[in-house]
Amino acid sequence: MTATIINGKQIAEDIREGIRQEMEQLKTTGFQPGLAVVLVGEDPASQVYVRHKEKACHDLGYYSEVHRLPSTTSQEELLAMVDQLNKQENINGILVQLPLPKQIEEKAIINAIAPEKDVDGFHPISVGNLVIGDDSLLPCTPAGVIELIKRAGVEISGKHAVVIGRSNIVGKPVSLLLQRENATVTMCHSRTSNMKELAKQADILVVAIGKANFVDASYIKPGAVVIDVGVNRLENGKLAGDVDFESATQVCGPITPVPGGVGPMTITMLMQNTLVAAKRAHG
Ligand code: GUN
Repeated sequence: MTATIINGKQIAEDIREGIRQEMEQLKTTGFQPGLAVVLVGEDPASQVYVRHKEKACHDLGYYSEVHRLPSTTSQEELLAMVDQLNKQENINGILVQLPLPKQIEEKAIINAIAPEKDVDGFHPISVGNLVIGDDSLLPCTPAGVIELIKRAGVEISGKHAVVIGRSNIVGKPVSLLLQRENATVTMCHSRTSNMKELAKQADILVVAIGKANFVDASYIKPGAVVIDVGVNRLENGKLAGDVDFESATQVCGPITPVPGGVGPMTITMLMQNTLVAAKRAHG
């Protein structure tokens, strides 16, 4: 069985090219989608993510605002900022970078974002719409996973998909999206007793458990599609996915690498969501 690498960087770039073309069209109407990103504190990883989001806006011609607030910001102050952005007509998407300092309750902030501007797809209304299959802004990483599978030429309908990990930001929404695409979905998590046995039945295996190199060839059915959502920093400073790539590629079919797989898709889907939100706002 020969493994093939799903090039997330290239697929993300293809999607961005499509967005650029739509932006050219929109420009003729004099309308520019706008994204606001709010960063509280100085978390180094968050600073990098926010810079990437700012750059993506710039590259694609979106209006953008980045609000960098001190780590001492109170919940009331952040709620006031969100309220202001909810009201701003030039802002179609609002993203409050997580994690937040401990004096701020994340849930209170997420709930305060207008659902039509919730480009993270984290608001309970967005989540509810996802569950019942109504139109909503989809969470970026899960939407990116589905897009990667489709653009790798893999048919999802009728397949058995196994998702390892049940987080609110990846595992749960990915399972729902795969179901929406007519896969039969099994969810595994840290307390699943026969995980290897279940994973080995997967035609499509999505791994988001947050443990470096957790899944090796012994979890994978020959030829299965493997999507690695993990991003783990090793002691030597290198990035590792949740899948042991060397081992997995001995048996799997199409597989996403880390880095260069799911990662580049997340910001691209954020930009896509912002465009969708903007088009909805402007009829
Ligand atoms: N921190 C890490 N990933 C994310 C994300 O997708 N959205 C937000 N808001 N914060 C994050």
